[in-house]
Amino acid sequence: MNYDDLMQKAMEASKNSYSPYSKFAVGACVMADDGSTFTGCNFENSSFGMTICAERNAIGSAIAAGKRIIKAVAIYSPNQDNCVPCGACRQVMHEFCKNDNDVDIVLKNGDELKVYTLAQLFPESFSM
Ligand code: THU
Repeated sequence: MNYDDLMQKAMEASKNSYSPYSKFAVGACVMADDGSTFTGCNFENSSFGMTICAERNAIGSAIAAGKRIIKAVAIYSPNQDNCVPCGACRQVMHEFCKNDNDVDIVLKNGDELKVYTLAQLFPESFSM
């Protein structure tokens, strides 16, 4: 699968990041099982704990559009190569897939894309 377009959308979304406190911008683009895509960026708050990550923002948009299964998530930060998703976002990704092996997490490492599965980044995940 070629994830160039997905990463391009994540990069575009990072430009809308609201991150005045950390100054760490993140953009994400989720692809649902029907191929539709949804972007998000992080948005912070002066009450720091209310910050929402880019990945969860993008997944929230997918959910609001009626999607329930995600197939891939591209993540980009201009501040850091290989910007991996935080633990909370990994748990949220896990909620919206059939199998952690079926979710590709796409990171940008210089000019290259690096692809992991959710299973690789989030082993022994919790479900009910
Ligand atoms: N952030 C994300 O958007 N996604 C992650 O997976 C890691 C962290 C954001 C949250 C906060 O606004 C900033 O990056 C620094 O932690």
